[in-house]
Amino acid sequence: MKILVTGGLGFIGSHTVVELQNEGFEVIAIDNLSNSSIDVLDGIERITGKKPLFENIDLRDKSAVQNFFSKHQDISGVIHFAASKAVGESVENPLLYYENNINSLVYLLQELQRKPEAHFIFSSSCTVYGQAEKMPITENAPIQVAMSPYGNTKQIGEEIITDVAKVTSINSILLRYFNPIGAHPSAEIGELPLGVPQNLVPFITQTAIGLREKLSVFGSDYPTFDGTAIRDYIHVVDLAKAHVIALQRLLKKQNSEKVEIFNLGTGTGSSVLEVINAFEKVSNQKLNYQIVGRREGDVIEAYANTDKANAILGWKAQYSLEEALSSAWQWEQKIRNK
Ligand code: WQD
Repeated sequence: MKILVTGGLGFIGSHTVVELQNEGFEVIAIDNLSNSSIDVLDGIERITGKKPLFENIDLRDKSAVQNFFSKHQDISGVIHFAASKAVGESVENPLLYYENNINSLVYLLQELQRKPEAHFIFSSSCTVYGQAEKMPITENAPIQVAMSPYGNTKQIGEEIITDVAKVTSINSILLRYFNPIGAHPSAEIGELPLGVPQNLVPFITQTAIGLREKLSVFGSDYPTFDGTAIRDYIHVVDLAKAHVIALQRLLKKQNSEKVEIFNLGTGTGSSVLEVINAFEKVSNQKLNYQIVGRREGDVIEAYANTDKANAILGWKAQYSLEEALSSAWQWEQKIRNK
């Protein structure tokens, strides 16, 4: 079976391509290389022995999307990662986010609705919950008003998919990620460092390797046990495996609704200081950091209730925080040839 992975050379996309190939799927990856590198194809091949098919396509180009699907009529399923994902950038440049994240989704769905049946996995985010009232967060937690245009594009994307499902043969699963971190244990693929990292873990590894002078901890006056914000950090390989399981659920027509939603996290919250301490343990070196003010838009805490994914998908995160941090550190050292 041929599976389309959009954003297939990106961080989560590339790890999902590996897991799809491990399960025997034929994969075609499309990517516009705006936040990824063509070299990722070789990294995937070094892991699985198979180089996925690849086409450089920008999903904002409607005719390019139409041509792609007329050329590849034998696509059995689509996993859609391609999107802009930097919260801060989305505040500065909202139209880039609405055009890229919404138009691309619309053009994809317009092609899928032509098929007798279509199976669609959508990359969503726990950001749709904003600051949830109750921890751990279940899929029934209310959707809050988005804190950024990025988060809003995820909410709008989910609404578009839900409306389309009512009148088409498209079956979808929305996967709401918590905080993806780490890299493939082979250190052949990982999170590509383009520009100054916005996220905590790549900033930690770049500080540890000497690329950044010190890490700024955004706030230590939160109402948490140690004053720093709490998140659910999930290994990217655990996340990738969940996508394959979700896709297989749709292909086997095991879904109970046309749109199903799953939170993907470890179910455990970790504070920023806990992540730093865990990193110092796995890297066996002190991290240079300073406490500064809170970052605009950050929530106090967010960690997943994973009962639904455990029970219905039969999926549970396997890697620990330390293992995820260790894989991120191995990757950082590899790409800096240290
Ligand atoms: C984690 C914690 C920061 C950097 C975002 C998006 C989410 C998803 C993942 C795309 C927070 C603190 C961070 C730093 C710090 N993105 N931090 N110093 O904000 O939870 O989630 O990225 O899908 O949708 O919202 O992740 O890694 O940026 O921050 O203290 O230099 O680390 O304040 O508490 P976040 P993050």
